[in-house]
Amino acid sequence: MKSALIVYFSQRGTNGRVAEAIGAGLREQGYHVALWNLKDGPPPEPRDHDVLGVGTPAYYFRAPFNVTDYVNSLQDLSGLPAFVFVVHGAYRGNTGNTVRRALRLKGAREVGYFHCLGADYFLGYLKEGCLISPDHPTADELGLAVAFGRNVAARLAGAPYARPDDDPQLPLIYRLERFLANQTLVKLFYSRCYRVNARCRPDCDLCIRQCPVRNIRRDDGGRLVWGRNCLLCLSCEMNCPEDAITSPVSWPIFRPFMIYNTRRASRDPALDSVRVIHKRGQTQRLT
Ligand SMILES: Cc1cc2nc3c(=O)[nH]c(=O)nc-3n(C[C@H](O)[C@H](O)[C@H](O)COP(=O)(O)O)c2cc1C
Repeated sequence: MKSALIVYFSQRGTNGRVAEAIGAGLREQGYHVALWNLKDGPPPEPRDHDVLGVGTPAYYFRAPFNVTDYVNSLQDLSGLPAFVFVVHGAYRGNTGNTVRRALRLKGAREVGYFHCLGADYFLGYLKEGCLISPDHPTADELGLAVAFGRNVAARLAGAPYARPDDDPQLPLIYRLERFLANQTLVKLFYSRCYRVNARCRPDCDLCIRQCPVRNIRRDDGGRLVWGRNCLLCLSCEMNCPEDAITSPVSWPIFRPFMIYNTRRASRDPALDSVRVIHKRGQTQRLT
């Protein structure tokens, strides 16, 4: 039986649902499908499969570091068929382009590129009271993901593939934001800048348990310490039931970007959004 490996990264499950849907399309066509969330550790060897799928959310208009690190760590794929999918809250920017290019450089042969919207639980926007794309992926979008899986199977059986162009460049302001969240700055600077106040409960450790790359620990004195592997995903700050953690993204200097982004997305007719309050690790919808 032919087999597909789909490696994706999902914190809140939207990428996982899209991966399942694409997998369902491939299964319909007789494939055995293995799904792997990068949160669960290193994935199995892709060259033991007939096709590799890589799924990623957009983070700061690019792919999260763990996804690009994964693709860059692969050995030569020697023509292995591969597809990419992106789930994004508003504007995916360079996300698909980088992952597609990295796979190509590894010698993969692209057989599909899919993207759709997914609820945007980015803390910076939630703090502005805005949840973008709240009910995505919709049933229709998941239906398109199933059809995409079927199409990939058809291409593997010899149907022609017209490779979609790269996604267009974003306006300068988003490129600046992407630059401000680059891997070197996160590793060398932002990851040292998390602050924890006295409300932190030593018996909680939710941040440690929920960090998708196991980057947080307690030192000998019981203080929370962030390692250099941070994705700047803000899961620690966002889920804290005591609002005890402050990440660099919550610095006042970044607030104008948050205000600009949420205003622009709320006015974009291609997007929908709802008002929310985010407090003590919970997001409550107001509309
Ligand atoms: C830290 C962070 C940064 C994000 N940056 C972007 C972005 O630049 N563009 C975008 O369209 N969506 C962005 N999003 C939204 C995610 O791409 C979207 O919510 C995705 O569905 C999350 O996938 P998951 O639910 O599987 O974790 C961001 C989300 C987070 C948490």
